[in-house]
Amino acid sequence: MSAAPHAAPAPLAARPSGPLAGRARIPGDKSISHRALLFGLLAIGETSVTGLLEGEDVLRTADAVRALGGVAERLGEGEWRVVGVGIGGLQQPAGVLDFGNAGTGSRLTMGVAASHPITATFDGDASLRKRPMRRIVDPLVRMGAEVVSEAEGGRLPLTIRGPRETAPIVYETPVPSAQIKSAVLLAGLNAPGKTTVIEQEASRDHTERLLRHFGAEVVVEPHGQHGRRITLTGQPELRAAPIAVPADPSSAAFPLVAALIVPGSDIVLDNVMVNPLRTGLFATLREMGADIEELNAREEGGETVADLRVRAGTLRGVDVPAERAPSMIDEYPVLAVAAAFASGETRMRGLHELRVKESDRLQAVADGLAAAGVGVRIEGDDLIVTGGNGEVRGGGTAATHLDHRIAMAFLVLGLAARAGMRVDDGTMIATSFPTFVPLMRELGGDIDAGLQGGGAGA
Ligand code: S3P
Repeated sequence: MSAAPHAAPAPLAARPSGPLAGRARIPGDKSISHRALLFGLLAIGETSVTGLLEGEDVLRTADAVRALGGVAERLGEGEWRVVGVGIGGLQQPAGVLDFGNAGTGSRLTMGVAASHPITATFDGDASLRKRPMRRIVDPLVRMGAEVVSEAEGGRLPLTIRGPRETAPIVYETPVPSAQIKSAVLLAGLNAPGKTTVIEQEASRDHTERLLRHFGAEVVVEPHGQHGRRITLTGQPELRAAPIAVPADPSSAAFPLVAALIVPGSDIVLDNVMVNPLRTGLFATLREMGADIEELNAREEGGETVADLRVRAGTLRGVDVPAERAPSMIDEYPVLAVAAAFASGETRMRGLHELRVKESDRLQAVADGLAAAGVGVRIEGDDLIVTGGNGEVRGGGTAATHLDHRIAMAFLVLGLAARAGMRVDDGTMIATSFPTFVPLMRELGGDIDAGLQGGGAGA
């Protein structure tokens, strides 16, 4: 078996740009989009979804929903209907479930499939094949699933068979991870009795919110200083419920940081989810002195959303505590870019989980910043960036290692660096933010195919 061939790399270049201006609509949240499809599959009836992120990662989950017996049908832009089979009703998939680049899709679907008496094979691209899966499989095995085969080190391709009857467990996650938590809770849906997940640091809670939205009984209690204990009563009847997906704060992060560092910028990003378990970046940037205003905050579809007005200004380096990491885990690459333009040093603590994302993000960020002439070092699990006080040389090429967020972060850097910046491959941006390049151009950012060779040039 070989990973699906990756499309030919397409370099992109960003050049120093005039002030960014205007309003932008960021695509739907990736975490909620995956979950919307999977909850739709497990519910009885028809779930209608609006604002679904139509990125490659989420489309893979839609394929998996179909392979497992559900209907996932696109009705219009971001508008989908999902017809579920109900808990316990999954069908044996005919072929391999290929998740491409998608960690969340593969891991959450593993929780769903491994709690049913079916055999499913999971695979993905070269990036996903490097990512650890034991952290998901271990609790699922405790619930009765069996690993039929796996690649070395517990990686994809991996085949797992679910038991006749899934056992409820009490599980403490070894690292704060919403993916592990969600896989166990989704499996717990098909277990009689109560499944409990304990986390030492609270991670994003979209699964818990959607469980309730679909009629399941979930009790969430505080645990220790920053943690939570989540208990789900198994085998509920999930009732189909409409889902409005808000804009993804992890995608909004890119134009937001661009507006902070390109002098004179003033933009508004509409309808961005501001769930406190996702907004560590906004808190950190505000500590750095950023001007980010939340306008018109409102409740939509069980989440708080707001329009974010962002204006450029000077930033100062800060010390980012390790316990903030779960609420901004995907935002470190672009925070490091903001730090490169700040005054003084920014220390980001406790980033070991960055090593197992779509790429080794700790290394990829350090290498890219070094290529842009920024002072950077890694000390243990900490990343330390020395800011240039508004001045970054740029002009290099960042290696993206099949990682969408590395590509977008360094394109953002290129909009404000003296000599711009080039990334070796922008194709992966389509996994989470397919409209990134046109949207940035619309706001006034100078990004295009990086065909000139060498640096981005000025
Ligand atoms: C996600 C959880 C995070 C995050 C990922 C999406 C989710 O991963 O990095 O992009 O939707 O549950 P971990 O929970 O493994 O940290």
